[in-house]
Amino acid sequence: MSIICVIGTGYVGLVTGTCLADMGNQVTCVDIVQEKIERLKQGILPIYEPGLEEMVERNVQAGRLHFTTSYAEGLDSSEFVFIAVNTPTGNTQGGADMRYVEAAARSIAEELDHYAVIINKSTVPVGSGDFVSRVIQNNLKRADVSFSVVSNPEFLREGSAVLDFQKPDRVVLGSSDPEAAHRVAKLYLPLRAPFVITDLYTAEMIKYASNAFLATKISFINEIAQICERLGADVKEVAAGMGYDKRIGSAFLDAGIGYGGSCFPKDVRALAHMADEAGLHPQMLHAVMEINYDQRRLIVDKLTNILGTLRHCTVGVLGLAFKANTDDMREAPAVDIIRWITAQGAQVQVYDPVAKETGREALAREGVNMELVTFCENAYDVANNADALVIITEWNEFKSLNMQRIRGAMRRPVLIDGRNIYEPSEMNRCGFIYRGIGRGTGPAPTVLPPGDTTSILEQQVPLTLEEA
Ligand SMILES: NC(=O)c1ccc[n+]([C@@H]2O[C@H](COP(=O)([O-])OP(=O)(O)OC[C@H]3O[C@@H](n4cnc5c(N)ncnc54)[C@H](O)[C@@H]3O)[C@@H](O)[C@H]2O)c1
Repeated sequence: MSIICVIGTGYVGLVTGTCLADMGNQVTCVDIVQEKIERLKQGILPIYEPGLEEMVERNVQAGRLHFTTSYAEGLDSSEFVFIAVNTPTGNTQGGADMRYVEAAARSIAEELDHYAVIINKSTVPVGSGDFVSRVIQNNLKRADVSFSVVSNPEFLREGSAVLDFQKPDRVVLGSSDPEAAHRVAKLYLPLRAPFVITDLYTAEMIKYASNAFLATKISFINEIAQICERLGADVKEVAAGMGYDKRIGSAFLDAGIGYGGSCFPKDVRALAHMADEAGLHPQMLHAVMEINYDQRRLIVDKLTNILGTLRHCTVGVLGLAFKANTDDMREAPAVDIIRWITAQGAQVQVYDPVAKETGREALAREGVNMELVTFCENAYDVANNADALVIITEWNEFKSLNMQRIRGAMRRPVLIDGRNIYEPSEMNRCGFIYRGIGRGTGPAPTVLPPGDTTSILEQQVPLTLEEA
């Protein structure tokens, strides 16, 4: 059993602290947001993450997991101090904002009165381990206290964070103090994961290189999707055919509206910035970002290709969160897409199973005209009198909707599937004018007039509307 302090109770900090407590350690989680800590003490979580709530409750009841805003309380007797605060994009060139890490390091220094291993779990630019060392050293309240810094980047995914923490593909540890790195490794031994123990800079780089590679896979398949669409191939089958090749693998080959979230966008930007600053020209990283941005525009292009103008139209939007199983709206494609659609004069009806409050806040914060947005209780209400339906997030519940009921509720049966969760032929049979991402050319684009679309659909859809 070790005594551990975790700084930051967001997706990474709360999951790390709770899972370490579940492994039998004594954990105190510290956050500067008083309200968050008060709610956590009442068992109310600041985030949605499958399986986390029960785990927090179990470990709080067992007396292994505590929450506080006091660094003194959190650091008291702690042998390990994890820094898991946010590192968002900080400047217009894309560099990471290190203010939160710096503030955490300073607060640690002001309260630390014994030796501890300080572990950077936040994703931080190469060289940040040295930066944290300097900040702590320069602000130590007791000059006789020593400490070591270890980089331990986190690879969990939102939506499956608990399982990812408990079954990591690898644990990366970097330090200029190998003994400290080995002490941290012991904490993780029960997880039976492979270890990569290396120097500080290399550990920090492994995190950025991993995220940039995954983002590259997504942008790669999205570029292939564009080519497929022009040439009449189906990118889903292309990806499946590629994925069987062990050298390629099938993960992250889903064409769609691109990546979002709190990690890929900011981490690719930060890596490109580090390379730029070092006098390099990271062409591929810039291309990855450009392709990703363009994917969002495709939705609006597809809508206007079919509907002509969006003025006075009602567009149904299924999903707001940047991906399924999370309520995280950071850099979610939904925000840009809804802003563009409403800017063209359309009303939007939206539904997300979980990202309701976070979705509303994000849309308002990012300048969407909220008078044009209606929040619905379910997918069927979203379809009601809509001129088009757009799939933004691949929530499981959207995969098994009664599509005939959806079709029947709509004013015009236009379905834009930003996540390729439906089969084009089935949707055509249901009477939809269906557009996925990279799924062949389909029927020639038709501009649908408002009102009755029966005659156009009869020309487009192989089956009759009665069958649909
Ligand atoms: N979210 C992910 O899926 C994920 C995965 C791997 C790595 N990461 C990295 O982990 C880090 C944390 O990400 P997150 O998504 O958990 O962030 P988050 O925004 O969800 O949580 C950060 C928390 O830190 C708190 N905080 C900020 N400054 C503080 C301070 N000085 N003292 C105490 N608490 C403070 C905030 O109040 C917040 O609760 C980032 O660097 C991120 O890139 C995130």
